[in-house]
Amino acid sequence: MRNMIKHAISDFFFEYETPRQVLVKNRRVGIVCRIIQMGVLAYIVGWVFMYEKGYQIVDVAMGSILTKMKGLAFTNISGDERIWDVADYVFPEQGDASFVVMTNFIDTVGQTQGKCPEVPDGKNKCNSDADCDEGKYKRTGNGFMTGKCVNRTKTCEIYSWCPNEDDRLIPEPPVLEAAENFTLFIKNSITFRQFHVVRSNLVEGVDQAYINRCQYHPTIDPLCPIFTLRDIIELSGFNYSDIARLGGSIGIRIEWDCNLDFNIKHCKPKYEFFGLYGTGKSDKGEKASLGYNFRYGKHYLENNVEKRTLMKVFGLRINIVVHGRAGKFDIIPTLTAIGSGVGIFGVATVVCDVLLLHLLPKRDFYKNMKYKNTKSNEEKPTLPMVQTEREKPQE
Ligand SMILES: *[C@@H]1O[C@H](CO)[C@@H](O)[C@H](O)[C@H]1NC(C)=O
Repeated sequence: MRNMIKHAISDFFFEYETPRQVLVKNRRVGIVCRIIQMGVLAYIVGWVFMYEKGYQIVDVAMGSILTKMKGLAFTNISGDERIWDVADYVFPEQGDASFVVMTNFIDTVGQTQGKCPEVPDGKNKCNSDADCDEGKYKRTGNGFMTGKCVNRTKTCEIYSWCPNEDDRLIPEPPVLEAAENFTLFIKNSITFRQFHVVRSNLVEGVDQAYINRCQYHPTIDPLCPIFTLRDIIELSGFNYSDIARLGGSIGIRIEWDCNLDFNIKHCKPKYEFFGLYGTGKSDKGEKASLGYNFRYGKHYLENNVEKRTLMKVFGLRINIVVHGRAGKFDIIPTLTAIGSGVGIFGVATVVCDVLLLHLLPKRDFYKNMKYKNTKSNEEKPTLPMVQTEREKPQE
């Protein structure tokens, strides 16, 4: 008993086993297997390490955005001269990442609560009083019907804010023509918490003097955070005058892709522009509900009567999103990537073995060389015959 334990211990501790290798001297097998191994190696080094940067840990950023529009417009609508500044044409005013810049509008001045006929825009026609259901309203209508059909307009009379808005004619060119030169200033800061890195889009070289004179250009001034409305619309692939007249929606994406193994000053933003919703001019035929617009009322009292000016605003809706990603060398992903690389390298061995032992014409010979067969009981195990096989020259 004691001997057995002693043997087991000495077997375990004083011996080491390693797999027997078979060296196959065959040019074709050699070349094929080396090519497979090279392919796997190229994948590990080129793709996993260099392209995917498998040696880095990655953090996704939190970003914040502040915006500020600047610019003035002057209008002269039938003798009524007006200056329009930021407080008049930006909605809402807080400088959010999502806002609307008015470029065109239809105003209906001096509306009061009362009775008037619907605007004859073809949507709310009537032939007799029977068509106007008293106390009801139509989905396309503007107020509750009084039950009367007005002869002059051939539309129902309604209780409503009167006179009704008539938006059949959208001003062309857009009322705020100067809007093309309005500028948008974007302040963006971004935090990679894991790396304790805070960056702002006012990077090295973008100082106050530069901001005062620069204007974004994709190749000449790609870091200038000041954009004109015309550039924003055209860089996103829309036609400026269509969008200015009917409105539209545009996304600005601030992309940070930082490699923190290099100096932080190489961590710079990239601005991208996407048309999200436009006038659909490229499609054939008239599309329903073109552009972007909304309405709001400016209320006031006149001789103690509540009145309002209804504004139908056409404008550019801008949505700014930040997308940030930073990577930095770390030992754990490096070891993981190396480990998985070694694992994938094993695939090359499997493929070569399949080729060698199952597909080649001389597979039985190689099988014999690779595996040592033992036959229990019937025969005593024999030493494997020592064979050498050299590649024949004509192969
Ligand atoms: C916008 O600015 C450009 C260049 O300064 C100028 O040529 C153009 O007339 C301006 N547009 C309007 C509507 O003022």
